[in-house]
Amino acid sequence: MLRVGIVGLGGMGRGRLRYYQQIPEARVEAVADVRAADLRQDDRLAELWEIPADQVRWFEDFRDMVAAGVVDMVDICLPTGYHRAAAVAALQNGVHALCEKPMALTLADCEAMVAAQRESGKLLMVAHCIRFWPEYQYLVDHMQSGEWGKLLSLQLVRQGPTPRGGWMEHAVHSGGAILDLHIHDLDFCQYALGLPQQVYARGGQSLGDARGYDYMHTTLDYGSGLMVSATSHWTDVSIPFVARYEARFEGAFLQMDTSKRPSLTVYRAGAAEPEVPVFNGPDAYLNEIRYFLRCIQEGQEPVRCTPVQSRHAVALSLAAAASIARGGMVPMSEFAR
Ligand SMILES: NC(=O)c1ccc[n+]([C@@H]2O[C@H](COP(=O)([O-])OP(=O)(O)OC[C@H]3O[C@@H](n4cnc5c(N)ncnc54)[C@H](O)[C@@H]3O)[C@@H](O)[C@H]2O)c1
Repeated sequence: MLRVGIVGLGGMGRGRLRYYQQIPEARVEAVADVRAADLRQDDRLAELWEIPADQVRWFEDFRDMVAAGVVDMVDICLPTGYHRAAAVAALQNGVHALCEKPMALTLADCEAMVAAQRESGKLLMVAHCIRFWPEYQYLVDHMQSGEWGKLLSLQLVRQGPTPRGGWMEHAVHSGGAILDLHIHDLDFCQYALGLPQQVYARGGQSLGDARGYDYMHTTLDYGSGLMVSATSHWTDVSIPFVARYEARFEGAFLQMDTSKRPSLTVYRAGAAEPEVPVFNGPDAYLNEIRYFLRCIQEGQEPVRCTPVQSRHAVALSLAAAASIARGGMVPMSEFAR
């Protein structure tokens, strides 16, 4: 039984508690949160514990938790600016770390995390959920199988209301939409296609400089004629959250929209009717946790999402931001060597 410590019991941390309830080989036994004193009194959490609530170990400082020898892995759900400190503390204390995306706010922080993982010999994975999302994995599987011929074009969209009232609306803490939201699709392109040669982005800060870029359109140039772009919005207009993609292959056209059921329609060349694949399995968040646990159990590095790729995901977002600021094309070699 793997003993899990949740670091940061806010929105994502609470979601994680529910997922660990579905995983027999792991159990949440400890929590670290600056609000520990209040949270431990919160009756709404009672149904989420797998062990008696009075046996949950509470810490205000995540460093105390990883030094106490009470957990085998941590699941880091802290505001992004703290990811580096928490992951490095865990790894240096011999504790595996699953960490929410984005890896960190700066490349220096990402590189410190990569180095700490290498030195520790413990496992680190950044939870890039789109790499584990069934509709997106379906696309990657078919790109790799070559069943529909060459991919000609991929367009990705992700948009929703700006998270308000907390650290997320301050770009200095969250990186703004380009690092917190847009990164999902930029990293997916990296997962599916590798790193582009150049990045060209347009966007702006319509909600004020402090919120960072809140709308952006990024073109990824793979030097092959393949058309790849991603568009994201965080808006103060209360639109429903949606993620979409459209992919054109030589022999098929795919349209995916997470807000629709069915979410994916596949139009194949020569087929009389479109196909609607059904995704009834576990969702991306359960998939990514299970995958990381399997890596720990088998002593294997998480190749489906490596620390260096997570560093490059941040690099892609920063390259897009640089492109907007400079008004021109940015070579990826400047950000990811
Ligand atoms: N994968 C996804 O789809 C997704 C969605 C939302 C958020 N996220 C990411 O998850 C992370 C957490 O976001 P959230 O929305 O859960 O944030 P949140 O504000 O809801 O929760 C953060 C928690 O951390 C605690 N905390 C803050 N500073 C701390 C510190 N120094 N030490 C200990 N505890 C501390 C807070 O008390 C709070 O309980 C972020 O990196 C965010 O980008 C990912």
